[in-house]
Amino acid sequence: MADNNFWEKIEKPIFALAPMAGIADSAFRRICKEFGADVLYGEMASAAALVYNPIKTLELLQSDKKEAPYIAQLFGSNPDHFAKAVRLLASKKQQFRMPDGIDINFGCPVPKIFKQGAGAALMRNLKQAREVIKAVLGNTDLPVSIKLRAKSGEIDCLMFLDYMKDLPISAAMIHGRTLAQGFGGPVDREIIKKARNYFGGIILANGGVMSARDAFDLLEKTKAGGVGIARGALGRPWLFREMKNKKAEVKGEKEIFKIALKHAELAEKLKSRQGIIEMRKHLCWYVRGLPGASEMRSGLVKVESLEDVKNILK
Ligand SMILES: Cc1cc2nc3c(=O)[nH]c(=O)nc-3n(C[C@H](O)[C@H](O)[C@H](O)COP(=O)(O)O)c2cc1C
Repeated sequence: MADNNFWEKIEKPIFALAPMAGIADSAFRRICKEFGADVLYGEMASAAALVYNPIKTLELLQSDKKEAPYIAQLFGSNPDHFAKAVRLLASKKQQFRMPDGIDINFGCPVPKIFKQGAGAALMRNLKQAREVIKAVLGNTDLPVSIKLRAKSGEIDCLMFLDYMKDLPISAAMIHGRTLAQGFGGPVDREIIKKARNYFGGIILANGGVMSARDAFDLLEKTKAGGVGIARGALGRPWLFREMKNKKAEVKGEKEIFKIALKHAELAEKLKSRQGIIEMRKHLCWYVRGLPGASEMRSGLVKVESLEDVKNILK
């Protein structure tokens, strides 16, 4: 086990921001961290792209120490790409803040990724999945984690973890839905609980957490060491503080606008105009359920600058 293994040092239960492509960028991770998220997963990046087009991919994986512990997630199917990708990260240490951990994606259902034998397709190819994990473990000093689904094809997460049980994987986030379920339907808590019998590292249960109550219910039913939250944090990053304090927070419009604006300012600082364009969806999530939300949304989907955001959220 790597001696820089932050996983062992964090207080349990762990409340993690789950990886989200196109969403969990540096600005959003910082906001979630400020509200108490313990571990911040980012946006998945292609191991092959990191090897062949490092500049753009390094940009995607860039982080700030304020986000630590930050986990860079890679997808792909070729062990050699993964080996080279994690070595490349280490070689860029001078210009690039090293992530605090590396995660491997075994759950993505997106056809473009699945067709490459990556994501959820790699989960059902145990032999190759094992080679990929070994390639990462053998080429980085960082703790390595994996993200699985309850089941992909004939392979469930228990078979998968059993097949990898001798490998020093630090943590596994298990999205308790099968590939066939996609992103909806019930989360299999029982299978996450059973995973304990097949895996010695930290288990993070994932799926369907929209409130602090959901999080504690999932922890209780799965006996996991933590939870991963994805959609529940959209427009509601304070969910992390609600979980930490075990107390729901009722927020008025003014307070929500203040948080949204802070997020937009950070997005602009980090990505300039592009940051504001990418903020549009976050802004719509922030105003969800507020009086006049639909009118605000029609303006928010068109914002081009921080001024535009301020004019709508004033
Ligand atoms: C927009 C979006 C992007 C996602 N991107 C990733 C990703 O890059 N890597 C990954 O492993 N999972 C990704 N996921 C899956 C989430 O991490 C999580 O497993 C799933 O949404 C279930 O959790 P939830 O019910 O809390 O949303 C994504 C989910 C959404 C909604």
